Amino acid sequence: MSDTVAIIGSGLIGRAWAMIFARAGWQVKLWDPAEGVAEKAVGLCATGLQDLAKHGLCDEPDSAAKRISACATLEEAASQADFIQENGPETLEVKRDLFARLDAAAPERAIISSSSSAIRTSLFTEGLKGRARCLIGHPVNPPHLIPLVELSGADWTSPETIERARAVYEAIGQVPITVLKEVEGFILNRLQGALLAEAFRLTSEGYVTPEDLDKTVSDGLGLRWSFLGPFATIEMNAPGGIEDYCARYTGFYKRLAAEPAAPEVYGSRAVGAIMAQWKRAKDLPAKMRWRDRRLAALRAHKASAEKEG
Ligand SMILES: NC(=O)c1ccc[n+]([C@@H]2O[C@H](COP(=O)([O-])OP(=O)(O)OC[C@H]3O[C@@H](n4cnc5c(N)ncnc54)[C@H](O)[C@@H]3O)[C@@H](O)[C@H]2O)c1
Repeated sequence: MSDTVAIIGSGLIGRAWAMIFARAGWQVKLWDPAEGVAEKAVGLCATGLQDLAKHGLCDEPDSAAKRISACATLEEAASQADFIQENGPETLEVKRDLFARLDAAAPERAIISSSSSAIRTSLFTEGLKGRARCLIGHPVNPPHLIPLVELSGADWTSPETIERARAVYEAIGQVPITVLKEVEGFILNRLQGALLAEAFRLTSEGYVTPEDLDKTVSDGLGLRWSFLGPFATIEMNAPGGIEDYCARYTGFYKRLAAEPAAPEVYGSRAVGAIMAQWKRAKDLPAKMRWRDRRLAALRAHKASAEKEG
């Protein structure tokens, strides 16, 4: 008997999770409160799985699609689940309501994980009987192409929950990391925020065009970042490793850190200065499809490179 996941909320992120779990052999029970959405999601996932197969990212799309079905109620989906992934709208009221219902309906062994981008676990699980089994499993969009998942529990989330959730996400082909203490933005968006603030500052203050700034990442930093993090990068940038790098090069970084970009870098004047130079996408949905094709190709390359070692 295979494992069963309940996907609560069948929008963009819910559907991606459904494909990921089904591709890994799980039975998937979809639910959504909006009329017809879960039923429609079953078909959209089947098409999505075929697309993944074209990129070599799903071996048996037909059988994976057959494992996905829609449920009429949240309770019906949750009561059969070994693992629950919640993907409702990003408001505290919705997360509180959904987690109370899920905790009441799910079998005791089931883990309840939220895809929330920014609402901390402690804000919507404190009063629950099963609060030790609740956490956030924050994906990156699109999760079926970018495997990172940030696990963030509250003080009362049990270590066993985190450990089991890590094992589940790893088993379905994702790459989990653990946020050891609750912090706004988790890890990925804090890193992205630091880079974005500096990008907005440099372009809005006229040091570089937005186009050239983007090249600095896509044809510079990003090439390394697709297989190395910043610590591994600097370890190789000085003969004596990280301590040597810090001794040689951090004088400039210290001056930069003493004058961080101000919130105004996201203000209308700065954004206007950037948009005056930025060439808008003529067809944004087509550009998103192109991005997904390039991501799929990169993932396929990384998978084959990992096999080679
Ligand atoms: N889109 C992203 O880039 C992204 C990335 C990471 C995490 N997330 C998080 O994932 C979650 C879902 O985001 P999304 O982009 O899939 O949104 P979405 O709007 O595509 O989907 C939300 C779904 O929730 C359903 N819904 C409405 N009320 C509900 C309720 N009370 N209970 C359950 N479902 C309800 C809607 O019908 C809709 O199908 C959010 O918490 C969001 O912060 C989104």
